[in-house]
Amino acid sequence: MQKPLSCRRQGGIPLARAFAVFLAAFLLLFWGCAPEPKGPALTLAPLPYAMDALAPVMSAQTLELHYGKHHAGYVTKANALIEKSRFKQKSVEEILVATRGKKKHEALFNNTAQAWNHAFFWGCLTPRGDARPTGLLAGAINKEFGGWKGFRAAFIDAATTQFGSGWVWLVSEDTKLRIITSANADTPIAQGLTPLFTIDLWEHAYYLDFHNKRKAYVEGLFDGLANWKAVEERYQHH
Ligand SMILES: [Fe+2]
Repeated sequence: MQKPLSCRRQGGIPLARAFAVFLAAFLLLFWGCAPEPKGPALTLAPLPYAMDALAPVMSAQTLELHYGKHHAGYVTKANALIEKSRFKQKSVEEILVATRGKKKHEALFNNTAQAWNHAFFWGCLTPRGDARPTGLLAGAINKEFGGWKGFRAAFIDAATTQFGSGWVWLVSEDTKLRIITSANADTPIAQGLTPLFTIDLWEHAYYLDFHNKRKAYVEGLFDGLANWKAVEERYQHH
């Protein structure tokens, strides 16, 4: 005789419970595999030193304005522009490569590049910036510039002859060192170069402390605040 249909099998689990287990497993699998929701593309990371730690070359007042207003402003504007663009799922580096030189993406590029440049710049500085490169980077500097003196002179000359706002960079192209400048927000990360070190040449970086004496600011930063240890590590691992 045929057994009547039942929602409960002898010795099994109720169908409702089986369905709940199946649903939980499905959701777990689905959410586990789904891409994590992306937060803002850029964040304003805390500085690795106190606001007054870089004085007198960079006073607390300059750093508070530079980091707290200028850098923060670039991050906010860049995130707003990225959010409403087709680049939402791209990395910051991909966005910079895709938008550099494109008139219709000018504001997005400028704010994103400035956010990236400033984050990189803070990492180039340390209150204990009196050490010089050693090892591989020292060898490369000797090879390319004939020694520390030649490198320092070339870097400071590039910084002081850059017309208007911009940045001076030590970059690596393959393993070859180069000193370049970039105007306004432009950045070597969008040009296939590896940035190793930079100094911000915008007036907001030095005008409160040095007025129009850009060379004194660059020399003070290069000789007293540059984090050559971090530059060395970047060069060794790029
Ligand atoms: Fe700046």
